[in-house]
Amino acid sequence: KHEEKKFPEGFLWGGATAANQLEGAYQEGGKGLNTPDVLPGGKVRLQVLKDPGFDFELDPEKYTYPNHEAIDFYHRYKEDIALFAEMGFKTFRMSISWSRIFPKGDELVPNEEGLAFYDRVFDELLKYKIEPVVTISHYELPVHLAKEYGGWRSRELVTFFERYATALFNRYKNKVKYWMTFNEINSSLHMPILGLGFAIQKEEDQYQPTFQAYHHQFVASARAVQLCHEIIPGAQIGCMIVYLPTYSVDSNPENVLYALKEEQLFNYFCGDVQVRGEYPAFINRYFREHGIKLEIEEGDLELLKENTVDYIAFSYYMSRTEKKDKTPEEVGQGNILGGIKNVFLNASDWGWEIDPTGLQISLNQLYDRYQKPLFVVENGLGAYDKVEEDGSINDDYRIDYLREHIKAMGEAIEDGVELMGYTPWGCIDLVSASTGEMSKRYGFIYVDKQDDGSGTLERKKKKSFFWFKDVIATNGENL
Ligand code: BG6
Repeated sequence: KHEEKKFPEGFLWGGATAANQLEGAYQEGGKGLNTPDVLPGGKVRLQVLKDPGFDFELDPEKYTYPNHEAIDFYHRYKEDIALFAEMGFKTFRMSISWSRIFPKGDELVPNEEGLAFYDRVFDELLKYKIEPVVTISHYELPVHLAKEYGGWRSRELVTFFERYATALFNRYKNKVKYWMTFNEINSSLHMPILGLGFAIQKEEDQYQPTFQAYHHQFVASARAVQLCHEIIPGAQIGCMIVYLPTYSVDSNPENVLYALKEEQLFNYFCGDVQVRGEYPAFINRYFREHGIKLEIEEGDLELLKENTVDYIAFSYYMSRTEKKDKTPEEVGQGNILGGIKNVFLNASDWGWEIDPTGLQISLNQLYDRYQKPLFVVENGLGAYDKVEEDGSINDDYRIDYLREHIKAMGEAIEDGVELMGYTPWGCIDLVSASTGEMSKRYGFIYVDKQDDGSGTLERKKKKSFFWFKDVIATNGENL
């Protein structure tokens, strides 16, 4: 009998997190304020992320700030990593907080206490043979850079980022082999505060300043690729995009073309630059039509061309369904990143449409386009969990979600896609990026921390903890 072994030996099973969403200790170890430290908790965060007047100031009279304490990973990392090890994690995706290393961002010398903290975390992971996968910038930058320099609008950030990346590569060259530059780099087309560190003040800002900021990030990312390869031979460094396969609502060619254009801009523009090393042809027309003229310095284009990424990491939560002429009601019914309702799909309690087949489609599309190894570094279901009287948390809905997505990855591997690993998002409950809520939980591990800030921070294993442990132990055979 022909035995299919879908997931390759050495497949990187694990979980994913980001510094600002779990560490807390926002003023310890010499850390400076970073941009998520000034983002409020609750659904109001979604409005703040689109607020043209947002000034990166704290306003404790008006708001709460859940990232300040988060789940206190800063002090509890040993306990948490022991739980990851118990689940059998082969890898752990985490990010480094830029403002722990360079508190203001424009200093010349890194903060030793910050560097030492991540040494301890990496040592603890390596003790259990868990391979760290590190995002250099996950939705944050030092607030000082946002306020004084206008975030990534300024070319100076390239220098600061380079200094930061160099400090990391030199310090951790014997501990970290897998790196990523900017988390979900393409998401700034929708929410620039998180990735680019500035608010869109007027409609025109969406064009010239945003794409100039993108150019700065592409240059910074390519420099990081170059430095990583020079400083850490054998290391691999990837880009990271949020991917939403984009469907046309029907077979009307006008709608199909519209969906294609949206997909080019959102799914492929950034990846094309980082993976192929060139601005794609389609973007020239977009630039022309929106009056965008990039300032490109001598040597930039060569740098991009010569320093492309080794692998493509992406997050997958949902697909997007598009239609050329949307009614105002239809606009509001889409997913967080646009589109309209897909009548074939159910959605999470936050309106994110659940589409496991879309992951198989995404993997095929990305592999067809780039022929580079892929890495699903985020996927998961944000859901309300209930702790039963006996202390158990029976998150069958999460198991169902993950099972279907893992099956879809197995199918894509059979389709011929080269897949390195799978790190579901928020393997331990943490603060939501878009809403600052604790109640939007993704974890295999429950954390007793509530939206109002109460809770003991105690960790508890959910039903999905035991399920995922078995998935890893059988290399994806027992689902
Ligand atoms: C991704 C981000 O967009 O989705 C994470 O990289 C984020 O930082 C995750 O937490 C889930 O989104 P949310 O808004 O539910 O936390």
